[in-house]
Amino acid sequence: PYPFYTALLKEDPLFYIEERGMWVASRYADIQQVLKSPQFIREIPQEHQGAPSPDVADDWKPIGEMMHHWMLLRDPPDHTRLRGLVSHGFSPRAMAQLEQQLRHIASDLAADLADSDTPDLITSFAFPFPVIVIAELLGVPSEDRELFKEWSHLIAKLLDVSYQTPAFIQQVRVTVLEMTDYFEKLAEERRRNPQEDLISSMLKSQNEGKPISDAELVATCILLLVAGHETTVNLIGNGIQSLLLHPDQQELLVREPSLIPSAVEEMLRYEPPVQMTGRFIGADVEVSGRLLRKGQHITVLLAAGNRDPEQFADPNRFDIHRSPNRHLSFAAGVHFCLGAPLARMEGEIAASTLLAHYPEMRLAAGKPQYRHNILFRGLERLPILTL
Ligand code: HEM
Repeated sequence: PYPFYTALLKEDPLFYIEERGMWVASRYADIQQVLKSPQFIREIPQEHQGAPSPDVADDWKPIGEMMHHWMLLRDPPDHTRLRGLVSHGFSPRAMAQLEQQLRHIASDLAADLADSDTPDLITSFAFPFPVIVIAELLGVPSEDRELFKEWSHLIAKLLDVSYQTPAFIQQVRVTVLEMTDYFEKLAEERRRNPQEDLISSMLKSQNEGKPISDAELVATCILLLVAGHETTVNLIGNGIQSLLLHPDQQELLVREPSLIPSAVEEMLRYEPPVQMTGRFIGADVEVSGRLLRKGQHITVLLAAGNRDPEQFADPNRFDIHRSPNRHLSFAAGVHFCLGAPLARMEGEIAASTLLAHYPEMRLAAGKPQYRHNILFRGLERLPILTL
C-alpha cells in the first residue's frame, strides 16, 4: 500500500519543483509545522488569483468569486468570522441531536442492500448516506437530494486541476450559478419561515448584526455541501474496504463493537479521503533545514504523513487497536476539519450498522476501481457479498 509515499518519505521527503515554485512535503512533523504556523497562509496571493488560463477568464469569474468566500481559503480574521457562524452546527449537542436520525437512515439503507444480487456499497450506501445527512443539516428538501449529489461531485472534480478544461469550466460556471440561485431562494424562504437548520441560523446571525454577506452565506452552503459529501463517501467506501481486506480485524470488530471509534480513526489514517492540501508561504521560513521563500507554495501529502514511521509504528499495518493515532486526515491548525465530529459519527454509524446487518460480509471478486481525482481518494464501486 502506498509504495510511492513510502519511497518519498525515505528518499525525498521535502522537495522543490522549480518551474512551479512549489514544495512538496511528506514527513509528519513538517506537515504539522506547515498546518500550524502562521507563516503558511491559505489566501491565494493576488498574482495567483484568477482563472487557470486566460481563455476561460469569463467563465471562471463566478466560480472564483464564490470560492473566495469559502472559510477554507481564507485566513484570520475573515476565516475566524466565517467559521464562527456555523461551528455550533457541529457541537457535541448538535451531534447528539442528529444521532438517532442518522441511525435510522443508515439502518434503512443497509437493509436495502441485501435486495440486490450484486450490492454495490458505494451506490447503495456510501453515496446516499452523507447526502441525506448534509441535506438535513442545511435544511434542504429531501426531493432535491439528487441535485446535491451531482453538484458536489462536479465541484470535487473542479478541485483537481487535471479536469480544468475550458468545456469543463463552462459546465461548472453553469452549475455555480444554479447553486447560487438555489441557495438564494432557499434563504429567502427561510427568512420568512425560519427552521432549525444551518441556513436559518446563519440568517439569524445576520439579523443580529453579525457580519456575513449574502454571497458568503451562499458560498458557505456550497462549501458545506461539497466538503461534507465527497469526503464522507470516501471514508465509508475506503474504510469498509480496508476492513474487509483484513478479515481478522473485521472479526475482532464484530466481537468487540466498542472498538468502532478506534477502527474509524484507523480507517481515516490508512486510506485518507483527502490525500493532500496546500498553503502559500506568507513569510520566509525554515522547514527541516531548508529555506522556503515568501510567495512559494507548499503541498502537504497528508496521506504520506499518516504513514511516517517516525510517528506511527509499523505504519503500513491496518490495526484497529492503534493508539495513539494522531493522523492528519482532518488536517491540523485553524482549518482542522469543521465537520470532523459529524464525519466521525457518520463513519461509526456506517460501520456499526453494516456489521450488525452483515457481520460476515466479504469483498466480491474484481479489482477495485478508484475515481480519478488527485485530491480525493475514493472508490467508483465496492461490490460486496452480504452473506
Ligand atoms: C476542512 C477532511 C468531512 C466540512 C477539512 C480539511 C480536511 C478535511 C483535510 C482541511 C483542509 C485544509 O486545511 O486545507 C475531511 C474528511 C472528512 C470531512 C477526511 C470525512 C471523512 C467533513 C464534513 C463536513 C466538513 C462532514 C461538513 C459537513 C469542512 C469544512 C472545512 C473542512 C467547512 C473548512 C474548515 C476551515 O477552513 O476552517 N476537511 N472532511 N468536512 N471540512 Fe472536512
